[in-house]
Amino acid sequence: MCGIVGYIGDKKVVPILLDGLKRLEYRGYDSAGLAVLERGRMVVHRSVGKIKELENAVWGANLVGTVGLGHTRWATHGRPTEENAHPHTDCTGDLVVIHNGIIENYLSLKEKLIQEGHRFRSETDTEVIAHLIEKYLADEPDLEVAVRRALNDVTGAYAIGVLWKGDPNRIVGAKCESPLVVGLGEGDFFFASDIPAILGLTRNVLFLNDREMVVLTKEGAEITTLAGERVQRAVETVMWSPILAEKGGYRHFMLKEIYEQPRAVRDTMRGRFSEDSGQIFFEGMEALDEALPEVRKVVLIACGTAWHAALVGKFMIEELCRLPVEVDYSSEFRYRDPVVDEGTLVVAVSQSGETLDTLAGIKAARARGCHTFAVCNVVGSSVTREVEGVLYTHAGPEIGVAATKTFTAQLVALYLFALYCGHKRGTADADRVRARLADLVRLPQQIEAALRLDAELEQLSHCYHTKSGFLYLGRGINYPIALEGALKLKEISYIHAEGYPAGEMKHGPIALISNEMPVVVVAPRDRVYEKILGNLQEVKARDGIVIAVGSEGDVELPKRADHCVTVPRTCHLLTPALLAIPMQLLAYHVAVRKGCDVDQPRNLAKSVTVE
Ligand code: AGP
Repeated sequence: MCGIVGYIGDKKVVPILLDGLKRLEYRGYDSAGLAVLERGRMVVHRSVGKIKELENAVWGANLVGTVGLGHTRWATHGRPTEENAHPHTDCTGDLVVIHNGIIENYLSLKEKLIQEGHRFRSETDTEVIAHLIEKYLADEPDLEVAVRRALNDVTGAYAIGVLWKGDPNRIVGAKCESPLVVGLGEGDFFFASDIPAILGLTRNVLFLNDREMVVLTKEGAEITTLAGERVQRAVETVMWSPILAEKGGYRHFMLKEIYEQPRAVRDTMRGRFSEDSGQIFFEGMEALDEALPEVRKVVLIACGTAWHAALVGKFMIEELCRLPVEVDYSSEFRYRDPVVDEGTLVVAVSQSGETLDTLAGIKAARARGCHTFAVCNVVGSSVTREVEGVLYTHAGPEIGVAATKTFTAQLVALYLFALYCGHKRGTADADRVRARLADLVRLPQQIEAALRLDAELEQLSHCYHTKSGFLYLGRGINYPIALEGALKLKEISYIHAEGYPAGEMKHGPIALISNEMPVVVVAPRDRVYEKILGNLQEVKARDGIVIAVGSEGDVELPKRADHCVTVPRTCHLLTPALLAIPMQLLAYHVAVRKGCDVDQPRNLAKSVTVE
């Protein structure tokens, strides 16, 4: 997830771009850049790090141009380096492009363009757009036509901005699945990824729909479809405050990120498989293909929420790859002198890629000759530089300390990883992979359905936010969701909560049950459903309060519980991703009800880079 901003008008563009990028910094901040048409020349500045670095880089340039584009990056393809920072240019350097999204077919397009003589400078998917436009401009020097033709060649998600020295009085924007808003000022016209970037300049906006383009001149904005039809769009007035706008209108980043999960999941799977052929393709995982034949055991190492994702990953990999999987806390693994060797595949699961224990665990694995890989959300982070291959989640930056969208994105990544390895090892045939991929394709909409439990869980939080302790119970692949629900609650509401395998309750925790203790029972219709119903009964028999989370259509569960919410049905390996949603929402609303600092809970950090 990146931030883009474009401006054309009579004001100096650099301060407008820098201010807009600062307001979009929450969308990505590993590198940034801007391009300005300066007295007939295209001037481009890029820098690694936060917007401040870019500001320092352009300060002395004294740019007075009034047309330009800006970009702040959250790397998905290509490390966070100056070469990979946007704007990207064509071969001439006279055309620049900024982009938020993922171009799925960029590799095939890049190969073809290289064969046609184009010279690439970066590792990014974005750069192919600049060379495609250049190619079509050579056919017909009309920027709007060339952009339209280029976008009809690409598949994937994009919000782009384009500026060409050959047509200095226009900038072109376009969108498909990534956001783009147009700002209408007095003789000033803008586009940006999100409202905060332009809110300080105008409150009059137009929203583009997918596969629409906008051409901005100093006279106005013209919207067309990719097919070239003119579009009339009503101007809307934004009444949000700037800070509220940064959160997309949500009260907290955590809630915004909970609601971003359909997109985060969609982006994590985007471009990584063909439903028809059942083919799964990962970039940069060649070492995995080499290692797989000799792998006899998998060890997943992680901390916190990522460890819960790893526990779910164990079920996925064992079922689809028929390999034994151990899951270890990184902090335990690194000191345990584990029995691992060149026949062991050690996979680090980490949102930040900077968790010190996980980094140390990978180094310990490498020292023992293991093959090492990572599932990670931050391109170029420390863990990703220690392993042989990385399967990136494309959840975008997660600002809330409590992990939400990165958790479900990790589950999707581990699911694809298990399918890929199972297919390579011959333990999951093409039909089975296709069937599992069909389940995966349905997951984003099913998450959207689960998000509609929000109001119900907010109501529920009013009943129980004063309780001093919660117990979360689950079985099998959904036991980790009980752990995750408990962690979410305690880390943002400071209420003690414990996740437990339901079958273990009678070995101790049952002593805790009383009419003062809410017990969240994760009870989807799966192979251990009857067993967990029995555990639910044991709680009720001791006056415990049962909040059941089950499967849509289950008529039995609501009869047994004090409260019951249900999520859509899917294959058992993906059910945890759906059950996580009500867990997150319940924790969020209890914490809000208690007046806690949801986005920055006490004593916690987003990334634990100390022991
Ligand atoms: C989860 O909500 C917490 N923020 C924390 O447990 C986190 O999952 C853990 O610190 C691991 O972080 P990582 O995924 O960046 O390695």
